[in-house]
Amino acid sequence: MNADETAPNLSGRNIISINDLTIDEISLILETSRSFLEVSKREIKKIPTLRGKTVINLFYEPSTRTRTSFEIAGKRLSADVINISEKSSAAVKGETLSDTSKTINAMDADALIIRHPLSGSPYIVAKNINCPVINAGDGCHEHPTQALLDLFTIKQRLGLLRGLKAAIVGDILHSRVARSNILAFTKMGIDVTVVAPQTLIPKDVQKLGVKVTTDFDAVIGGIDIIYMLRIQLERMSRAYFPSVREYCRYFGLNLNRLKKAKEDALVMHPGPINRGIEIENDVADLAQSTIVEQVTSGVAVRMAILYLVLSGETVE
Ligand code: CP
Repeated sequence: MNADETAPNLSGRNIISINDLTIDEISLILETSRSFLEVSKREIKKIPTLRGKTVINLFYEPSTRTRTSFEIAGKRLSADVINISEKSSAAVKGETLSDTSKTINAMDADALIIRHPLSGSPYIVAKNINCPVINAGDGCHEHPTQALLDLFTIKQRLGLLRGLKAAIVGDILHSRVARSNILAFTKMGIDVTVVAPQTLIPKDVQKLGVKVTTDFDAVIGGIDIIYMLRIQLERMSRAYFPSVREYCRYFGLNLNRLKKAKEDALVMHPGPINRGIEIENDVADLAQSTIVEQVTSGVAVRMAILYLVLSGETVE
C-alpha cells in the first residue's frame, strides 16, 4: 500500500453521522477549514473551485445558520446552489422523500444537503441519489457539521482539542447536536460530561464514553468548554421539568454560576439561543462566549466539507 492509499480522502462520501469519519478525516476537515476561513476574510470572497457543480439545499425544517452557511459556502466556492424548502417542494402535494430524492437525482445534482425532522431521513435520501448526501440535522439523531464547526472553533480559540474537558448542558435527550458533539468530542480526545435533569438524559448515554450528572454546580469548576443547549420544546410530547424557572435555577448559565468556572472557560451554544432560559443575556455576549464565532466557523467548515467531498471530480 502506498502513502496516498492511507491518506484521508472524503471525495464522493456521504457525511450523515460523525461515525462516518475517522480521526484523520476530522483533522483534515479542520485543517482545510483554516484555509477557507482566510478566503472569507478577503475582499473578494470567491474562488472558482466548484465552478460547474450543483449543490442542493433541501430543508424541511426552519434554519438560519445551517441553511445560510451552506448556501454561502457553496457560492464562495462558485457552485450553483439551489434552495428547496418543504413548503416550496412537491412534499406539500404528497410526494415522498424517496421520490423527491429520485427527482433531484434525475437533475444530476453534485451534492445534496438535507435537514429533516425525521431521524434517519438522510439514509433514505442516500439510497435514492447518486451524489454525496450531507446531513444538516435529522430529528434527534445527528447534526455532524455543527459538531465539526464546534471542534474548529475550540481549536481556533484554545489551540488544541485532546485533554480538554467539556460539559454539554441541557436537553440532551432531544438534541442532535448533543449526540454529534459527544461522538466528535470524545473521538478527538475531549473528556465529556453531560449535565441535565434526569428526565432529559438518554438511556445508556454512558455507553458513548461520557460522564453523567444532574449537578451543574458540582462539575463547572473543572470544565474548559461549557456547551449550552436549547430546550427543544417543539420535540417534547410532555413536561420534562416542573417549570422554566426551576430549569433555569439548576441548569441555566448565569453570571453567578459562571464565576465558579475557570476564568478562561469557553461558553458555547449551537444557536438559536433562548436568552434568559438556558443562558442569561449578559453571559451570551461575554468575550469568552463563542456563539457568534461558531457561526463564522460554520461557513469555513462547510466550505471545507463541500470542497473535500466534491473534489476529485474534474470539470470538463
Ligand atoms: N445550529 C443550528 O443548526 O442552527 P439553525 O437551526 O439556525 O440552522
